[in-house]
Amino acid sequence: MKESYLSELEEYRVGPENDDIQKFVEDVAKRIEDEFTRYEEYHPAILGRNSGEKLYRLLVKEKPDIVVETGVCNGFSTSVILKALNDNQRGKLFSVDLPANIDELEDKERSGAVIPPGKRPGWAVPEELRDRWTLKEGNSYYELPKIFENLSHNIDLFLHDSGHSYETMMFEFSIAWYHLMKEGFLLSDNIDFSDAFSDFVEAKKVIPYKIGSLGLIQKKER
Ligand SMILES: C[S@@+](CC[C@H](N)C(=O)[O-])C[C@H]1O[C@@H](n2cnc3c(N)ncnc32)[C@H](O)[C@@H]1O
Repeated sequence: MKESYLSELEEYRVGPENDDIQKFVEDVAKRIEDEFTRYEEYHPAILGRNSGEKLYRLLVKEKPDIVVETGVCNGFSTSVILKALNDNQRGKLFSVDLPANIDELEDKERSGAVIPPGKRPGWAVPEELRDRWTLKEGNSYYELPKIFENLSHNIDLFLHDSGHSYETMMFEFSIAWYHLMKEGFLLSDNIDFSDAFSDFVEAKKVIPYKIGSLGLIQKKER
């Protein structure tokens, strides 16, 4: 895929600026980064402050009832989503993550998207935001179909941030799209990692946007 794909996309209009969310995003990112100062050769691969803030503002504007995400890791994007649902006073989040603990890595070359020894996915999510959250630990290939089956076509927003191979992205986009409600949103981080997002956009004949580093498309048909 051409490297400038994301920068060429038009920004989707999200809700108004909000100082409180800037502080929240900073606090969560810092909590994770501080923990990683002890594991210098590893990095947490969080969504990022700018994308986190924009994701929050989209969620506050759209007020989804059901959100599904893949890729929790240390819990940055999860915290942002749960903060928005809490501030909206509605909605639930279902997350899937196949965790990679630093001390249990099978792939010794791997340095990113890992969690510290002894921690579980989403360890950085504030306790008071966890009421609206269901976490399934496992591979999205197995866990996503089960989640979608139970939620029966009522998904308002799906966020992909798990494994970024073409196959995984295309699998998650396809199953999520099928289960999204009309007007539902599909968001993906790292859309420059493969052609999956641009191929999917072309196949579905939708207009791609971005918010921060995330690609965004909206389902117009049921
Ligand atoms: C980039 S990190 C997620 C970062 C997180 N969204 C954040 O903002 O902090 C990707 C996570 O997805 C997990 N993962 C990778 N492939 C997966 C798969 N097939 N199913 C579920 N989780 C997967 C990784 O182990 C890691 O925990």
